[in-house]
Formats: sequence, structure tokens, C-alpha cells
Amino acid sequence: MNIIVAADKNWAIGKDNKLLVSIPADMKMFRQETTGKVVVMGRKTLESFPNGLPLKNRTNIVLTGNKNYKVKDAIIVHTIEELLEEIKKYPSEEVYCIGGDSVYKQLLPYCDIAHVTKIDFGYEADSYFPNLDEMPEWEITAESDEQTYFDLEYSFVKYERVK
Ligand SMILES: NC(=O)c1ccc[n+]([C@@H]2O[C@H](COP(=O)([O-])OP(=O)(O)OC[C@H]3O[C@@H](n4cnc5c(N)ncnc54)[C@H](OP(=O)(O)O)[C@@H]3O)[C@@H](O)[C@H]2O)c1
Repeated sequence: MNIIVAADKNWAIGKDNKLLVSIPADMKMFRQETTGKVVVMGRKTLESFPNGLPLKNRTNIVLTGNKNYKVKDAIIVHTIEELLEEIKKYPSEEVYCIGGDSVYKQLLPYCDIAHVTKIDFGYEADSYFPNLDEMPEWEITAESDEQTYFDLEYSFVKYERVK
């Protein structure tokens, strides 16, 4: 399974159930990377999307503990075990964990590639991604040139599990 995230320089990823910043080129990369694939997310991340709707042209799988939760055009699972069973139907390289905080933390052990958009700024935040630079099992294997969006600097960094 892959993981895809945009994190600031402190590995912050969100505040008040919103992204910290929306960078058009990052949104485009996310769309290109995940279109036609399977995206796995927590219920709060789904509800943070425009109108709370699943992402188009992707198989959406949503985790919630609520047995009555239903969303048109999304597969609902209620435990990590149920999720792992569901994703067996797809090649693991086509499955992307797209957040948020709680789901990233639970699924990181099952992931072996992480696509991180690293934003060189420290935002006020309440959601974080694990610091891959402090985890010996993760290594940077590719990194884009520095990109800019107005005065913001960021880069696309690929991490791979090495152990
Ligand atoms: N920067 C990025 O790339 C990025 C990407 C995605 C999200 N985010 C940010 O992350 C933040 C949201 O993170 P979050 O942790 O608050 O929410 P979340 O992970 O999106 O959703 C949490 C919800 O998922 C369900 N869930 C999680 N684990 C489960 C399990 N093992 N079994 C059953 N259900 C489970 C629960 O739903 P129920 O309460 O319904 O039971 C839980 O309340 C927002 O600020 C968002 O903008 C950032």
C-alpha cells in the first residue's frame, strides 16, 4: 500500500479538519497519482471534501465505527481488519492511504511507499503525520527540485520502506 500526504516542516497536516494550505500543483500531483486507483480514508477526511463527497474516478474506501454510515459511491469498512480484507481485491501498489491523522498512523505499518509533499513552513496545526526522517525503516529514494507557490517553498519527496 502507498501513503500520500502533504506535510509542513514539523510534519503537521491539518487544523480544524482542514488542510493547512492548498497548493494547486500538489492537488494536481495527488489527482494524477491516485486517479483510477483505490483511496482509503477516515470518515473525517471524507467529510472535509467539497460537499463531503467521495473522490471521482477512484474507488473510495472509508473507515468509520458507525454501522449505519452510508455514502453513495463509497465502500464503507468498520475496522482495520475489514479494510485489510477489502483491499486484498486490488494490487497493493494501486491502493493509497490518503489520511487523515488517525488513519495514517494506523496504516503506516502496512505501507511501503510514501509520497510526501514537504512544505517548508511551520503552520499552527492539530493533526500530524509520523516523522519519517526519524524512522530508520524509511529512506528518501527520490526528491524533486524545490518548487514555489507564491512565497511558499515545497518539494515532492518519495520515501520507501527499507526494512
Ligand atoms: N495534509 C494531508 O495530506 C491530509 C490528508 C488527509 C487529511 N488531512 C487532515 O487530517 C485531519 C483529519 O484527521 P483525523 O485523524 O481527525 O480524521 P480521519 O483520520 O480522517 O478520520 C477519523 C475517523 O475515521 C474513523 N476511523 C479511524 N480509524 C478507524 C478504525 N480503526 N476503525 C473504524 N473507524 C475508524 C473514525 O470515524 P467515526 O468517528 O465515524 O467512527 C474516526 O473518527 C484534517 O485536518 C484533514 O484536513 C490532511
